[in-house]
Amino acid sequence: MKILKNSENFSFSLPKARKKLPRVGFFDSGVGGLTVLHDAIRSGIEAEFYYYGDNQRAPYGNLPTATIQEYTRQAFDEFERIGVDVAVIACNTVTALCIESLRKTYPFPVVGTEPAVLPAVRSFSEVAVLVTEATFQSERFNRMCAHARERFPDRRLVPVACPMLAGAIERGILGKEKTDYAAYLPKLEGIGERAAVVLGCTHYLFVRQYISDFYRLPVIDGNEGVVRQLKRILE
Ligand code: DGL
Repeated sequence: MKILKNSENFSFSLPKARKKLPRVGFFDSGVGGLTVLHDAIRSGIEAEFYYYGDNQRAPYGNLPTATIQEYTRQAFDEFERIGVDVAVIACNTVTALCIESLRKTYPFPVVGTEPAVLPAVRSFSEVAVLVTEATFQSERFNRMCAHARERFPDRRLVPVACPMLAGAIERGILGKEKTDYAAYLPKLEGIGERAAVVLGCTHYLFVRQYISDFYRLPVIDGNEGVVRQLKRILE
């Protein structure tokens, strides 16, 4: 419908045309991916969001690779059934272990979440990267670290596995226990005062300030890059 010249007095009563919003699925083992979803919504992305948090089976970080792949396949089958336009793996562990095969298997684009290793070593001479055990062992994460070391050979990059931390955060956020997170934070050997800590698991963002205070170091996460990539695809 067109509003003719000089008729703008009527225009206020017209119902707004309904835009068809794209469907975006977010997946994480549990609550961690909500931090990415939160940042996506805050960035102004307009979409119909779906969140698949596998709370009952979280955490994934200590499970065998085949089990993580099977649980992820179940989530992505659900996204396919819903008919999402884009899926976001809001989980570093699942990205490390599954992104390549998901991109080959499903008809929609898949955005991953990865530890912000490169931005961190670009700005800091020493960088500790906190990740789950599964990410720590994964080929993709180790390739990323090797690449960062190659590009910035004068930097000190120290990946550190935190096997119990994501589970403790999951239980803490869901109110299942009162947690002393200090018990789950490893010592950072050989990391000095001019370092930064990369949060390589989306669960860790819930205790971002706690981790920063504990180590007395700045913390960096990769959410901004994920949201930027999602925007690019949606545009
Ligand atoms: N949120 C996750 C990640 O980014 C997974 C944590 C877990 O389930 O162990 O790695």
